[in-house]
Amino acid sequence: MAKFEHFNVIGPIYDRIFGRGSVDNLLELCRFNSTNNVLDLGGGTGRVAAAIKPLVQIVIVGDSAMGMLKEARLKEVEDFMAYSECLPLTKHSFDRIIMVDAFHHLADQELTLREMWRVLNLGGMIVIEEPDISNFWVKLIAVGEKLLLMRSRFLRPETIAQMAEQYDDADVSVKKSKGVAWVIIEKLSKERGASDVRDER
Ligand SMILES: C[S@@+](CC[C@H](N)C(=O)[O-])C[C@H]1O[C@@H](n2cnc3c(N)ncnc32)[C@H](O)[C@@H]1O
Repeated sequence: MAKFEHFNVIGPIYDRIFGRGSVDNLLELCRFNSTNNVLDLGGGTGRVAAAIKPLVQIVIVGDSAMGMLKEARLKEVEDFMAYSECLPLTKHSFDRIIMVDAFHHLADQELTLREMWRVLNLGGMIVIEEPDISNFWVKLIAVGEKLLLMRSRFLRPETIAQMAEQYDDADVSVKKSKGVAWVIIEKLSKERGASDVRDER
Protein backbone atom coordinates (compact mmCIF):
# COMPACT_ATOMS: atom_id res chain seq x y z
CA MET A 1 0.00 0.00 0.00
CA ALA A 2 1.39 3.47 -0.92
CA LYS A 3 2.23 5.51 2.16
CA PHE A 4 0.37 8.75 2.88
CA GLU A 5 2.35 11.84 1.86
CA HIS A 6 1.44 14.82 4.06
CA PHE A 7 3.16 17.33 1.79
CA ASN A 8 1.06 16.41 -1.25
CA VAL A 9 -1.99 17.44 0.76
CA ILE A 10 -0.69 20.64 2.36
CA GLY A 11 1.11 21.92 -0.77
CA PRO A 12 -1.62 24.40 -1.81
CA ILE A 13 -1.77 26.01 1.66
CA TYR A 14 1.86 25.55 2.75
CA ASP A 15 3.09 29.07 1.97
CA ARG A 16 0.15 30.71 3.72
CA ILE A 17 0.80 28.75 6.93
CA PHE A 18 4.57 28.25 6.98
CA GLY A 19 5.81 30.72 4.39
CA ARG A 20 6.86 33.56 6.67
CA GLY A 21 10.23 32.27 7.87
CA SER A 22 13.07 34.68 7.10
CA VAL A 23 15.75 33.65 4.60
CA ASP A 24 18.18 36.42 5.63
CA ASN A 25 20.53 34.20 7.66
CA LEU A 26 20.59 31.60 4.91
CA LEU A 27 21.42 34.19 2.24
CA GLU A 28 24.25 35.54 4.36
CA LEU A 29 25.73 32.09 5.02
CA CYS A 30 25.53 30.95 1.39
CA ARG A 31 27.37 33.99 -0.05
CA PHE A 32 25.57 33.51 -3.40
CA ASN A 33 26.91 35.10 -6.55
CA SER A 34 25.63 35.45 -10.11
CA THR A 35 27.67 32.47 -11.40
CA ASN A 36 26.27 29.96 -8.88
CA ASN A 37 24.25 26.86 -9.81
CA VAL A 38 22.04 26.16 -6.79
CA LEU A 39 20.04 23.09 -5.79
CA ASP A 40 17.28 23.61 -3.23
CA LEU A 41 16.70 20.03 -2.10
CA GLY A 42 13.42 19.34 -0.30
CA GLY A 43 12.65 22.80 -1.66
CA GLY A 44 8.88 22.22 -1.64
CA THR A 45 6.84 25.17 -2.93
CA GLY A 46 9.93 27.07 -4.09
CA ARG A 47 9.44 29.64 -1.30
CA VAL A 48 13.20 29.87 -0.66
CA ALA A 49 14.30 29.30 -4.26
CA ALA A 50 12.16 32.24 -5.44
CA ALA A 51 14.08 34.54 -3.06
CA ILE A 52 17.43 33.20 -4.31
CA LYS A 53 16.59 33.29 -8.04
CA PRO A 54 17.57 36.95 -8.70
CA LEU A 55 20.97 36.41 -7.03
CA VAL A 56 22.30 33.37 -8.93
CA GLN A 57 22.66 31.87 -12.40
CA ILE A 58 20.40 28.85 -11.86
CA VAL A 59 18.32 27.64 -8.94
CA ILE A 60 16.39 24.39 -9.15
CA VAL A 61 14.07 22.78 -6.61
CA GLY A 62 14.20 19.02 -6.05
CA ASP A 63 11.40 17.48 -4.00
CA SER A 64 9.52 14.20 -3.63
CA ALA A 65 6.01 15.71 -3.29
CA MET A 66 4.26 16.79 -6.50
CA GLY A 67 1.70 18.69 -4.41
CA MET A 68 4.52 21.01 -3.29
CA LEU A 69 6.24 21.24 -6.69
CA LYS A 70 3.01 22.42 -8.35
CA GLU A 71 3.27 25.54 -6.18
CA ALA A 72 6.92 26.04 -7.18
CA ARG A 73 5.84 26.02 -10.84
CA LEU A 74 3.44 28.89 -10.16
CA LYS A 75 6.49 30.87 -9.01
CA GLU A 76 8.31 30.00 -12.26
CA VAL A 77 11.03 28.15 -10.38
CA GLU A 78 12.70 25.20 -12.14
CA ASP A 79 11.99 21.87 -10.47
CA PHE A 80 12.36 18.11 -10.63
CA MET A 81 10.66 15.37 -8.68
CA ALA A 82 13.01 12.95 -6.89
CA TYR A 83 13.85 11.43 -3.57
CA SER A 84 16.91 13.05 -2.05
CA GLU A 85 18.29 9.59 -1.30
CA CYS A 86 18.74 8.89 -5.03
CA LEU A 87 19.32 12.04 -7.07
CA PRO A 88 19.12 11.83 -10.89
CA LEU A 89 22.11 14.19 -11.17
CA THR A 90 25.75 13.87 -12.17
CA LYS A 91 28.51 14.46 -9.66
CA HIS A 92 29.87 17.97 -9.08
CA SER A 93 26.79 19.67 -10.65
CA PHE A 94 26.05 22.41 -8.08
CA ASP A 95 28.03 25.19 -6.36
CA ARG A 96 25.52 25.50 -3.54
CA ILE A 97 23.06 22.94 -2.17
CA ILE A 98 20.57 24.09 0.42
CA MET A 99 18.04 22.11 2.41
CA VAL A 100 15.64 24.14 4.54
CA ASP A 101 13.42 22.54 7.17
CA ALA A 102 13.43 19.20 5.35
CA PHE A 103 16.30 17.11 6.82
CA HIS A 104 14.15 15.80 9.70
CA HIS A 105 11.53 14.61 7.17
CA LEU A 106 13.91 12.40 5.15
CA ALA A 107 13.57 8.62 5.11
CA ASP A 108 17.38 8.23 5.06
CA GLN A 109 19.42 11.18 6.27
CA GLU A 110 22.89 9.57 5.85
CA LEU A 111 22.16 8.54 2.29
CA THR A 112 20.81 11.99 1.43
CA LEU A 113 23.92 13.67 2.81
CA ARG A 114 26.06 11.34 0.74
CA GLU A 115 24.05 12.24 -2.39
CA MET A 116 24.35 15.96 -1.64
CA TRP A 117 28.10 15.56 -1.23
CA ARG A 118 28.34 13.65 -4.53
CA VAL A 119 26.57 16.31 -6.60
CA LEU A 120 28.34 19.24 -4.89
CA ASN A 121 31.02 20.95 -6.94
CA LEU A 122 34.61 21.28 -5.70
CA GLY A 123 34.79 24.54 -3.75
CA GLY A 124 31.02 24.39 -3.20
CA MET A 125 28.91 24.55 -0.07
CA ILE A 126 25.98 22.67 1.44
CA VAL A 127 23.83 24.52 3.98
CA ILE A 128 21.28 22.52 5.97
CA GLU A 129 18.83 24.66 7.92
CA GLU A 130 16.94 22.80 10.64
CA PRO A 131 14.85 23.61 13.69
CA ASP A 132 17.24 23.30 16.66
CA ILE A 133 15.96 20.34 18.67
CA SER A 134 17.61 21.62 21.86
CA ASN A 135 15.04 24.48 21.83
CA PHE A 136 11.89 23.93 23.96
CA TRP A 137 9.44 25.06 21.22
CA VAL A 138 11.09 22.84 18.63
CA LYS A 139 10.70 19.88 21.00
CA LEU A 140 6.95 20.66 21.10
CA ILE A 141 6.83 20.79 17.30
CA ALA A 142 8.59 17.40 17.20
CA VAL A 143 5.89 15.94 19.46
CA GLY A 144 3.18 17.48 17.23
CA GLU A 145 4.73 15.94 14.11
CA LYS A 146 4.86 12.56 15.86
CA LEU A 147 1.15 12.83 16.67
CA LEU A 148 0.49 13.63 13.00
CA LEU A 149 2.43 10.44 12.11
CA MET A 150 4.90 12.43 10.04
CA ARG A 151 7.82 10.04 10.74
CA SER A 152 10.07 13.05 11.48
CA ARG A 153 13.53 12.41 12.92
CA PHE A 154 15.08 15.54 14.39
CA LEU A 155 18.85 15.31 14.89
CA ARG A 156 21.04 17.70 16.84
CA PRO A 157 22.94 19.89 14.37
CA GLU A 158 26.21 18.60 15.88
CA THR A 159 25.12 15.05 14.91
CA ILE A 160 24.49 16.15 11.32
CA ALA A 161 27.89 17.86 11.34
CA GLN A 162 29.56 14.62 12.53
CA MET A 163 27.98 12.74 9.62
CA ALA A 164 29.54 15.24 7.19
CA GLU A 165 32.95 15.25 8.88
CA GLN A 166 33.58 11.73 7.58
CA TYR A 167 33.99 13.08 4.03
CA ASP A 168 37.50 13.89 2.89
CA ASP A 169 38.03 17.60 2.27
CA ALA A 170 34.87 18.65 4.13
CA ASP A 171 35.08 21.74 6.28
CA VAL A 172 32.06 21.62 8.61
CA SER A 173 30.65 24.21 11.02
CA VAL A 174 27.42 24.84 12.93
CA LYS A 175 25.61 28.10 13.61
CA LYS A 176 22.53 28.62 15.78
CA SER A 177 20.14 31.48 16.38
CA LYS A 178 16.71 31.65 18.03
CA GLY A 179 15.68 28.00 17.65
CA VAL A 180 17.18 27.54 14.18
CA ALA A 181 20.45 25.77 13.35
CA TRP A 182 22.56 25.75 10.20
CA VAL A 183 25.07 23.04 9.34
CA ILE A 184 27.54 24.42 6.81
CA ILE A 185 29.59 21.89 4.83
CA GLU A 186 32.20 23.22 2.45
CA LYS A 187 33.94 21.00 -0.10
CA LEU A 188 37.52 22.15 -0.29
CA SER A 189 38.71 22.47 -3.87
CA LYS A 190 42.12 20.79 -3.40
CA GLU A 191 42.73 17.31 -4.90
CA ARG A 192 40.28 14.82 -3.41
CA GLY A 193 41.43 11.81 -1.38
CA ALA A 194 41.18 8.24 -2.67
CA SER A 195 38.30 7.25 -0.37
CA ASP A 196 36.18 10.16 -1.65
CA VAL A 197 36.72 9.10 -5.26
CA ARG A 198 35.87 5.50 -4.33
CA ASP A 199 32.57 6.70 -2.76
CA GLU A 200 31.35 8.43 -5.88
CA ARG A 201 29.45 6.89 -8.75
C1 LIG B 1 8.69 21.40 5.66
S1 LIG B 1 8.81 21.26 3.91
C2 LIG B 1 10.06 22.50 3.57
C3 LIG B 1 9.94 23.05 2.18
C4 LIG B 1 10.92 24.20 1.86
N1 LIG B 1 12.30 23.77 2.00
C5 LIG B 1 10.64 25.41 2.71
O1 LIG B 1 11.43 25.71 3.62
O2 LIG B 1 9.64 26.06 2.44
C6 LIG B 1 9.76 19.75 3.72
C7 LIG B 1 9.88 19.30 2.27
O3 LIG B 1 10.76 18.18 2.20
C8 LIG B 1 10.27 17.31 1.19
N2 LIG B 1 10.82 15.97 1.39
C9 LIG B 1 10.62 15.13 2.44
N3 LIG B 1 11.31 14.00 2.25
C10 LIG B 1 11.95 14.12 1.06
C11 LIG B 1 12.83 13.27 0.32
N4 LIG B 1 13.21 12.08 0.77
N5 LIG B 1 13.30 13.71 -0.86
C12 LIG B 1 12.95 14.93 -1.33
N6 LIG B 1 12.13 15.78 -0.68
C13 LIG B 1 11.64 15.37 0.51
C14 LIG B 1 8.76 17.37 1.37
O4 LIG B 1 8.05 16.89 0.24
C15 LIG B 1 8.57 18.86 1.64
O5 LIG B 1 8.34 19.58 0.46
